Amino acid sequence: MKNNLDVSYDTLIPNNVNLSSDRRVLKALEKWHPGYLTWWNDLGPKGFQESNVYLRTAISVDPKGWAKFDYVKMPEYRWGILLAPQVEDRRIPCGEHYGKPAWQEVPGEYRSLLRRLVVIQGDTEPASVEQQRFLGKSAPSLYDMRNLFQVNVEEGRHLWAMVYILQKYFGADGREEANGLLQRASGSEEAPRMLGAFNEETPDWLSFFMFTYFTDRDGKMQLEALAQSGFDPLSRTCRFMLTEEAHHMFVGETGVGRTIQRTCEAMKEAGIEDPNDIEAVRALGVIDLPTIQKKMNLHYSLSLDLFGSEISTNAANAFTAGIKGRYGENKIDDDHQLHNDLYSAVSVKNGAIITEDVPALSAINMRLRDDYSKDAAGGVKRWNLVISKAGVPFELTLPHQGFHRQIGTFADHNLSPTGEILTDEQWKDAKGQWLPTTADGDFIKSLMKPEWEAGKYAGWISPPRIGIDNKPGDFEYVEIHMA
Ligand SMILES: [Fe+2]
Ligand SMILES: [Fe+2]
Repeated sequence: MKNNLDVSYDTLIPNNVNLSSDRRVLKALEKWHPGYLTWWNDLGPKGFQESNVYLRTAISVDPKGWAKFDYVKMPEYRWGILLAPQVEDRRIPCGEHYGKPAWQEVPGEYRSLLRRLVVIQGDTEPASVEQQRFLGKSAPSLYDMRNLFQVNVEEGRHLWAMVYILQKYFGADGREEANGLLQRASGSEEAPRMLGAFNEETPDWLSFFMFTYFTDRDGKMQLEALAQSGFDPLSRTCRFMLTEEAHHMFVGETGVGRTIQRTCEAMKEAGIEDPNDIEAVRALGVIDLPTIQKKMNLHYSLSLDLFGSEISTNAANAFTAGIKGRYGENKIDDDHQLHNDLYSAVSVKNGAIITEDVPALSAINMRLRDDYSKDAAGGVKRWNLVISKAGVPFELTLPHQGFHRQIGTFADHNLSPTGEILTDEQWKDAKGQWLPTTADGDFIKSLMKPEWEAGKYAGWISPPRIGIDNKPGDFEYVEIHMA
């Protein structure tokens, strides 16, 4: 197979996988397309389908110049199928087939395991679009609105990426799963999305920024692990998705950072020195730092749940099969089979949190989650820098891994953010100090007034340091035509 860097636009579905000579798959995707558009129009960004949005579209998978920017109406976005270039002589990077040539077709014995992984990943992509569909109306600027829509169209493309894998490699079952991805919906009673965090609302812009920082980062870790798959088409698909994913986390990190910056500036201007004087800070029309900490606690803990149980046979099986690796598998210095390796895992035993060595193979999820936590700490450090530079005595901290968990070893225990085990009573009394209350949510919502004049920003958030695609400060990122 030749390496296509450029994307061909001669089919309805732009692609670099030679779809025009793969009639069966092209037909299957063309058949799926109308349902996708119906989904996009029904459950995608509400009210802005007629607006011209300054979006980037992937035109190549060459890392040096893969995207071009232009105004586009979202329903006309060219959602394409893009795979990163094939690595010559790529080998299976882990498990019992370690070192053998990577599979170009689905290995029969792992078919259902592989399909399940693809479906779970695929299910998260449209879910986040659904969760964010009402945010356009309260966008704090056209810049932010454009970023929201960019994230949305790219999550739509990620759905296409997974659907391509299903349609091309999984026959009739794949087709059925592809349809199922359009039938489930975030928060639906009858057919919810598969993972908990993807059925929560994204009710305001701080939630959106926290979501793209913490939950899209879970996506990044899962894609990193799938990019290490011995099933080469999946690996290549995920590698290209990671290019786009980086922007989503940038939106989250800078969004939270700009919120913090505005809060600190407003406090300084008003001469408020105590960051915990919540009423005084809120009276300035900005979000107080303790509330930002609470939102962080919520989104971080929901995202940790996405990694599944610390000790997992499914994860061990996927690793041994060679269909899902560890983060940075090809850079890890071990036998990549984990026959005798240990990993130090936490658990709760007899009312205490303990750390003990367990077979590393059983703790694959835990390891990926630990890698995630390290990765997530970077942005928190940079947020704290914004606070300390402003001279405000406050520090944001990631809560203990066992705080507010619904899945895994901590699920049946109440832990404080610093890791003390609490009684139900103690938890009930203190919970409102650590997680956003209804009143906190109402306050944040009260600030969510749209600012749609080019170059202007709502009072609770600072402007970005640089524009998208180096555009000037007053650039009109969205030409609004309300549907
Ligand atoms: Fe995604
Ligand atoms: Fe994303």
